[in-house]
Amino acid sequence: MTALRVAVIGTGMIADAHVRAARDAGAVVGGVLGSSASRSRQAAERWGVPTGYASVDELVADRPDVVHVCTPNDTHVDYALAATAAGLHTVVEKPVAMTLSEGRRLADAVRAAGTVSTVPYVYRYHPMVRELRARVAAGTLGRVLTVHGSYLQDWMVSPDASTWRVDPERGGPSRAFADIGTHWTDLAEFITGTRFTELTARTSIAYAERPDPTSAGASFGGPGTGTGTGTGTGTGTGTSAETGTGTVPVRTEDTAVVTFATADGTLANTVVSQVAAGRKNRLWIEVDGSQGSAVFDQEHPESVWFGGEHGSTTVHRAEGSVSAGQARLNRTPAGHPQGWTDAFAAFCADTYAAVRGETPEGLPTVEDGVRSLEVVDAVLRGAATGRWTSTSTEER
Ligand SMILES: NC(=O)c1ccc[n+]([C@@H]2O[C@H](COP(=O)([O-])OP(=O)(O)OC[C@H]3O[C@@H](n4cnc5c(N)ncnc54)[C@H](O)[C@@H]3O)[C@@H](O)[C@H]2O)c1
Repeated sequence: MTALRVAVIGTGMIADAHVRAARDAGAVVGGVLGSSASRSRQAAERWGVPTGYASVDELVADRPDVVHVCTPNDTHVDYALAATAAGLHTVVEKPVAMTLSEGRRLADAVRAAGTVSTVPYVYRYHPMVRELRARVAAGTLGRVLTVHGSYLQDWMVSPDASTWRVDPERGGPSRAFADIGTHWTDLAEFITGTRFTELTARTSIAYAERPDPTSAGASFGGPGTGTGTGTGTGTGTGTSAETGTGTVPVRTEDTAVVTFATADGTLANTVVSQVAAGRKNRLWIEVDGSQGSAVFDQEHPESVWFGGEHGSTTVHRAEGSVSAGQARLNRTPAGHPQGWTDAFAAFCADTYAAVRGETPEGLPTVEDGVRSLEVVDAVLRGAATGRWTSTSTEER
């Protein structure tokens, strides 16, 4: 099988993860496009990629099989549309667009072009998420009564923290919820197989002002992009991009608390915050059913807790009888931990399988990206009005 050749747009934290995941999934990274020709060349050198493109036109003319769009939110749609118009397959980072209508425009273009377009809701690719999903579908937990949890980070807890995401022109009208809350809702709907039809939301802003993010430097960073606080945690959360001298008013939320309802009245609730001190990437979800409960905690992805009225148990990956969904994603034996980078690589492998004409189960596509934008749109409307709000704008 000939390796697919991919191009990556963006040179920051998540672009780095895409380069590694693409290679792990068997692709050749043929070129990279940064915010300038010199940044493209620097990144190409850093990653050992043959070409640093000077422009998107140069990238498109190079005809990669797949284009990974890993840039700030305001650029996703234009880059993805340019690639799609040329008939190239895409992986588009979330949120796929700044607004729901832009997201729909992209999905329409992808449908018209007949290309594959996927969105890295990669938490779906933890084997134990598939195990939990399979057991919910098999009725092991009984009827789902409640879903709850949170997605907490702390990289914006300092008033000095700033990033391009603080600027609504670059990050969009929702910050914390669009950035990480959408991962939680995608996972909740994926695991339970249901849709949240309505929601109520409140949001809050931790600081009225933050430093002016004048450039698109690193934000939620990887190792080595630490805060300079000397904590040496290694999970580095680059507080600030290269910041300007002044401050800017903060107009987008640091925290969102959202309550959801499904069409049959099942309730769900999540707390989304990027100002929760000590929480690095705590995506946590509990499904409570009439026969049992279950918890998946992204920071401990090798197991799922199953609670029962008369006893509880922790099920570990690759032990005992496993679901087909888990088995497909297990790549190491029990006791040899898999994590986020494996999930990212599995997502890329499924994207490339789709490009080859297969239909991998549970692959998040641009349609799922649009679904997330529907929820974001409803959160913003619900927070503004204080009312229960439909998550489907078709029904408005
Ligand atoms: N799927 C996930 O789990 C996940 C995780 C983190 C980030 N993301 C998404 O990835 C995107 C990037 O986030 P990040 O954390 O890597 O940000 P970042 O600030 O670390 O990196 C952004 C990069 O884009 C470059 N850039 C800016 N404008 C550009 C342009 N016009 N053309 C080309 N390159 C440009 C910057 O120089 C920088 O290298 C965001 O949309 C974010 O929501 C997704």
